[in-house]
Amino acid sequence: MGQRGLFISLEGGEGAGKTTQLMLLADALRGRGLDVVTTREPGGTPAAESLRETFISHQGQSWPISAQLLTMFAARALHVEQVIKPALAKGKIVICDRFTDSTRAYQGYAQGFDLDSIETLRHIAIGDFEPDITFIFDIDPVTGLSRTSKRVSTGDTFEGLDIGFHQKLRAGFWDIAKQAPDRCHVVDASKKPDIVAQEILNLTLSRLKEHASC
Ligand code: TMP
Repeated sequence: MGQRGLFISLEGGEGAGKTTQLMLLADALRGRGLDVVTTREPGGTPAAESLRETFISHQGQSWPISAQLLTMFAARALHVEQVIKPALAKGKIVICDRFTDSTRAYQGYAQGFDLDSIETLRHIAIGDFEPDITFIFDIDPVTGLSRTSKRVSTGDTFEGLDIGFHQKLRAGFWDIAKQAPDRCHVVDASKKPDIVAQEILNLTLSRLKEHASC
């Protein structure tokens, strides 16, 4: 691998299976001797995890969207500077459960906050920093929500919102993928987990090859 590592984000609506896929991808890469850091948003540093806890335990989904955004970007600025960039500088692969596309989708597309203003805030918080690869796990919200209703609740604030919210979220992720086709890969998350895992592993390995030859 070159001097800088590889930054991978996993995105999607509720019940898309990204957290399971994160573990499978990390294990497969570690099994090939690669140095992998797994992390999540909001969170990833002690202070950012406190912001996550505050957001979830105080019903962040009903806060003014501006407050949601500032919380997400405060957590992200800490996470990028204290964890993600230092790991990449050491040549590691960082796999993050959610990143800025979740802000675009949840606060922008699904709740209607102006997308250009979100980009302005992003710039203030983290400049132009974006993942090298983003896997967007796409699933029909009815299927996704039926999966989440079967698991022990993670205290997720948005799961309980109506189906219209989740449909806007899904369409938002599709639009994000359309606008950044070099970075984003939409994955059919209704397929069996081992098939999905193989697909994202293959894409990651071919990207690592390109990266190493740069
Ligand atoms: P998780 O349950 O997937 O870990 O994510 C926590 C919740 O936070 C999830 O419902 C999505 C939400 N969220 C946002 O609303 N905006 C963001 O920028 C991020 C990263 C997460």
